[in-house]
Amino acid sequence: LARYAVIGNPIAHSRSPQIHAMFAEQTGKPLRYDRLLAPVDGFAEAVAAFVAEGGLGLNVTVPFKLDAYALAAGRLSSRARLAGAVNTLSWRDGAWHGCNTDGVGLVSDLLRLGLRLTGASVLLVGAGGAARGVLQPLAEAGCARIHIVNRTAAKAEALAASWRDSGVSPQTAVTGGSLADAALAGGWNLVINATASGLQDAAPDLPPGLYAPGAAAYDMMYGAQPTAFMKQAEADGAALTADGLGMLVGQAAESFYIWHGVRPDPAPVLAALREALK
Ligand code: ATR
Repeated sequence: LARYAVIGNPIAHSRSPQIHAMFAEQTGKPLRYDRLLAPVDGFAEAVAAFVAEGGLGLNVTVPFKLDAYALAAGRLSSRARLAGAVNTLSWRDGAWHGCNTDGVGLVSDLLRLGLRLTGASVLLVGAGGAARGVLQPLAEAGCARIHIVNRTAAKAEALAASWRDSGVSPQTAVTGGSLADAALAGGWNLVINATASGLQDAAPDLPPGLYAPGAAAYDMMYGAQPTAFMKQAEADGAALTADGLGMLVGQAAESFYIWHGVRPDPAPVLAALREALK
């Protein structure tokens, strides 16, 4: 059997094996997909051992996305280069090739939700790896404006400036600032939480009045219950709120496509995961 895995630390909670097993069944691609726990300082060794066992592809999660980026240096997709991180490694011609499917997963889920990204004004909350990874797919989806805000405002300003310097999708205006200055006259069409605040079951400290009529809030985190950010957004007048389970399935679908050349249908897989969360 062709071998794939998700590598991280911790990894026991990962739903990727379940997702890829459902995609494999759906598309009739026989494969084996495991969880790999690597020591925090032992990523390269763990990956080498996986290759020796015949491994063909890896999904990479916390804390190894930068290690994977380094491992695939010189063999990176433009998405991975712009994201500055790799979540999908493919073994081809005796070397690892790196891609990043997180942003594509987000955009495909936003479209599934029926959101209109063309011309949209988007507030992106957070300026770490998760935020950086979604800038290119959001810009290429036609957003008119992306304003990045962060608890540490200087990081948001630096991320926006480095994005502008990249020269990618110059038709999208990308700016940075503080959480306190997140309001926009008339409101945002979409507010995305890319911070790690949900890990403490908290919402970022955003001012009220963020949402335009009909606007949506999307949390990259997910859970059995609506997240703290979703509750904050609903109280602030968001017309639609969603968590990041669909993004998880979307990034997996794109990885599956890279490895197997077939696009699985994320909808039944998302429904099964949602049911399992209850
Ligand atoms: P990731 O790869 O998940 O983006 P990261 O690079 O460590 O992880 O970035 C975490 C992000 O969550 C940062 O934007 C961080 O803000 P700071 O740059 O100010 O640290 C943000 N963050 C974490 N906890 C937060 C909280 N309680 N409220 C608001 N933002 C928070």
